[in-house]
Amino acid sequence: MRMRHKYRKSSAFHCNAGSPCALLAVVWSLVACTLMVQFYCYTRHDDKVEHPIRLNHRPLTRELEEVEEENFQMPPPRGKRSPRAIKRRGPRRPPSAIDEFLDESSELRNFFFPDRRTAIDPFKEGNNSMYFYPGQQWLDTDGNPIQAHGGGLLYDENSETYYWYGENKDGPTYQAHSGGAARVDIIGVSCYSSSDLWTWKNEGVVLPGEEMNDTHDLYKLNVLERPKVIHNDKTGQYVMWMHIDDVNYTKASVGVAVSDSPSGPFEYLYSKRPHGFESRDMTIFKDDDGKAYLVYSSEDNSELHISSLTEDYLDISQPMRRILIGQHREAPALFKHQGVYYMVTSGCTGWAPNRALAHASESIMGPWETMGNPCVGGNRIFRMTTFFSQSTFVVPLPGLPNSFIFMADRWNPAELRDSRYVWLPLTVGGPVDEPLEYNFGFPVWSRVSVFWHRKWKLPDGWRIR
Ligand code: DGJ
Repeated sequence: MRMRHKYRKSSAFHCNAGSPCALLAVVWSLVACTLMVQFYCYTRHDDKVEHPIRLNHRPLTRELEEVEEENFQMPPPRGKRSPRAIKRRGPRRPPSAIDEFLDESSELRNFFFPDRRTAIDPFKEGNNSMYFYPGQQWLDTDGNPIQAHGGGLLYDENSETYYWYGENKDGPTYQAHSGGAARVDIIGVSCYSSSDLWTWKNEGVVLPGEEMNDTHDLYKLNVLERPKVIHNDKTGQYVMWMHIDDVNYTKASVGVAVSDSPSGPFEYLYSKRPHGFESRDMTIFKDDDGKAYLVYSSEDNSELHISSLTEDYLDISQPMRRILIGQHREAPALFKHQGVYYMVTSGCTGWAPNRALAHASESIMGPWETMGNPCVGGNRIFRMTTFFSQSTFVVPLPGLPNSFIFMADRWNPAELRDSRYVWLPLTVGGPVDEPLEYNFGFPVWSRVSVFWHRKWKLPDGWRIR
């Protein structure tokens, strides 16, 4: 009978801990693990690992992904500047492109804010029908400039119609106090409807501001920003969440309103600080499983929080997660693609434009990773300023592979009512630009790309359903 050795030594490896052989084994295991992780990543995302501008096999979206340059010349220095612009940047520093953008007397004014002659007009467009012109005035079916800033879209399955909700800023711009940010009194939330995403009918102010009652959240001297609406399939209600604040942005709360119809009227319910935390720029997101989430800038805008909503979407619930801590991001616009969550955010520079960043996560609760600047085309300053605009929403385009519409605001702090809309094609595909924190630099996520176009339209064959 053979003796069984309880502590039989392996005949393959004769390694003592700490010996060079053990070290080699550890190194080889690490290499093997890394290769397995990489193999897993490539197989899971193999359809997305491609460069966004080499997508010739996708005839529907090829045009949207063309890289378009923008000839942008800074005007030569000149003597006379607006005193407000000089105060903003100091007398000695030469004006940057952003200073030019913010200077209402700049020679580039008409470049950034072209006048009404070039407006997108659903009744006068002829051959230009269905073309988006980022930054140009956009008229509704009554011929008035659309007032839906900081907004978002809802696709209503019941009526097979898109609804666009946003801030109505059609009042005078002023500063509440010297040195304070430009503002417009609360007029309310506007709503527009469309079946083609291009022709918009004004449905009116579906949540009006409050003229007289100065204790009301919606009192005209307060702040109502970034309204977003989702539909609750269980209750049948349309639920609006928005940023509610006082004139100095110290209330830092979210507000909730509800309606039985997408075109309102909405009944304002209440405001609160979610989980007791400050909440400024925000959005809401309804997932495929019907669960909904609130995403908000918190802790002095230094981080974002994501919180679940209750089943009726009328309140927040647990869990809540702190994400992008210390990254100082705002204007979150969240979307989902092939099971992965993506988000575009801006930096925090008031009404002035800055660089967008794209983030991704396997789970909505994180960990979220930052992938870099999604902007493609234009020129460097265009890309560093999100094409002189700030994210607000990303619209899914069912049936168009990997494609979305990126919705942004080109704020005009000198005349906020004349702020413009920058809608551009957004695609998901190709390797990311920046090394990723949690993945040892491996391309787990696909690149989010927002393509600059002076003029573009959705593919002719595209229909909502
Ligand atoms: C940046 C935010 O994204 C906007 O919604 C608005 O709050 C401005 N700041 C105000 O300066």
